[in-house]
Amino acid sequence: MKRLSVAIDGPAGAGKSTVARQVAENLGLTYVDTGAMYRAVTWKALQKQADLHNEEEITRIAREADIRLTPGQNGMDVWVDGKKVTEDIRTPEVTSNVSAVAGMPGVRQALVEKQRQMAVAGGVVMDGRDIGTHVLPDAEVKVFLTASIEERAQRRFKEMKRKGYSVDLDQLREEIRRRDEMDSNREHSPLRAASDAVHVDTTNRSLEEVIQTILNLCRTKVGEAE
Ligand code: CDP
Ligand code: CDP
Repeated sequence: MKRLSVAIDGPAGAGKSTVARQVAENLGLTYVDTGAMYRAVTWKALQKQADLHNEEEITRIAREADIRLTPGQNGMDVWVDGKKVTEDIRTPEVTSNVSAVAGMPGVRQALVEKQRQMAVAGGVVMDGRDIGTHVLPDAEVKVFLTASIEERAQRRFKEMKRKGYSVDLDQLREEIRRRDEMDSNREHSPLRAASDAVHVDTTNRSLEEVIQTILNLCRTKVGEAE
């Protein structure tokens, strides 16, 4: 399955990264977490105490940041300018600012360029919000993952508690709702299912079931091509 491209999009907490990583591992493809790239730019902007409303400044940061994704012990490690920021990009501060940064056309253009370069040889599973519609419109397999807001909030709640953050479920639900709304209503490449995406509702389904569903879609595609 060397050259297969798989696009996985959906709202926050639908299970995209977990599922995409395991699908990639299973098929021997490269996993690209595009959300981590928007988070990396947001992290760097916060580090530099940049003005988060200044599109020109944030776009320059996005263009100049050397963002790398490498396989790590618990999933992918994320590096910015040689510093490992895997955990730093998941803090509540980054999370609450990332959608505003991701809404800037200049930032999107810079990161989409990097994402397409990563996929140029094929053989990728890429997850995000605009992969099937914009970044990889020719991907052979496109999946739109969803789950109810309650389920997504519960998943994030458990995850953040596991990581040692003290979080409030109502606040988390509200933060996810606000981020989905911003991501869905922005002008450039909003969160949307591609017209040819397969919709998979993960609400009452185990991770294993969802992974198998996507692996079957990939195998069917490869079978058709042979
Ligand atoms: O993992 P989680 O669902 O919390 O978010 P993420 O995938 O890490 O993405 C963080 C944010 O980056 C999203 O809320 C979007 O604002 C933005 N994003 C985007 O605009 N386009 C993408 N292809 C991926 C992420
Ligand atoms: O990338 P995205 O924001 O779509 O979701 P994620 O970070 O992959 O998943 C959020 C949390 O939900 C993780 O802690 C997953 O382990 C968990 N999850 C789950 O419990 N059941 C699923 N079917 C999918 C994800």
